[in-house]
Amino acid sequence: EDIPVLTIDGPTASGKGTLADEVAHELGYVILDSGMLYRATGLAAHRAGLDLDDGAAVAAIVPAMDLHFRKGRVTLGEEDITDALRAEAAGLMASQVAAHPQVRSALNQLQLDFRRVPGLVADGRDMGSTVFPDAPLKVFLTASAATRAERRYKQLISKGISASMEGLRADLEARDARDKGRSASPLKPAQDAQSLDNSAQTIEESRDLVLAWWAERR
Ligand code: C5P
Repeated sequence: EDIPVLTIDGPTASGKGTLADEVAHELGYVILDSGMLYRATGLAAHRAGLDLDDGAAVAAIVPAMDLHFRKGRVTLGEEDITDALRAEAAGLMASQVAAHPQVRSALNQLQLDFRRVPGLVADGRDMGSTVFPDAPLKVFLTASAATRAERRYKQLISKGISASMEGLRADLEARDARDKGRSASPLKPAQDAQSLDNSAQTIEESRDLVLAWWAERR
């Protein structure tokens, strides 16, 4: 493929989504928020009354999911599910269905289809390690658990959703443990990934660093 791809992977609430948006905006690239695909799959499976631990059953609904991404909104059939997908409950469902290799392979082609001109910024857990192994720049973004819980807390509070910092930290640590511990595409840096700890960085600093790496690499 000669369409350039830049991948950003990392744990829950490390700031991947924000960084990916900023970088894609600067470069004028398409964006793939792969977590949204897993969240949508988890939600659709839950609504269909499926057992989320049944990988074959969950994978079977993927081809029929009428999922669309438009202007930052996600629709499933006629329904706008954007807000439901952002909720912590959807994140937990996502990590449950994401553990099944059948689900991961069912979502693989959907993810590859986002690779369009002039280029793609893909964020998730295994964008660099599995889905786009030929990406010239693979960022592995981390931040301390305390920083991540605090950012998530502020995000929710600013949307008028109440939350507890301790509860959020426990949820994100549980999700990370599941994502790192699974055998199918576990969360870990690709061999050739460039690590970036953004705990003490502003979004502009991280963005500019990634853009400088991109200018060198691509
Ligand atoms: O990034 P986000 O929090 O939206 O992802 C939700 C869950 O989806 C993650 O905890 C992870 O289990 C799963 N996921 C994944 N592979 C990806 C993206 C997300 O397994 N590339």
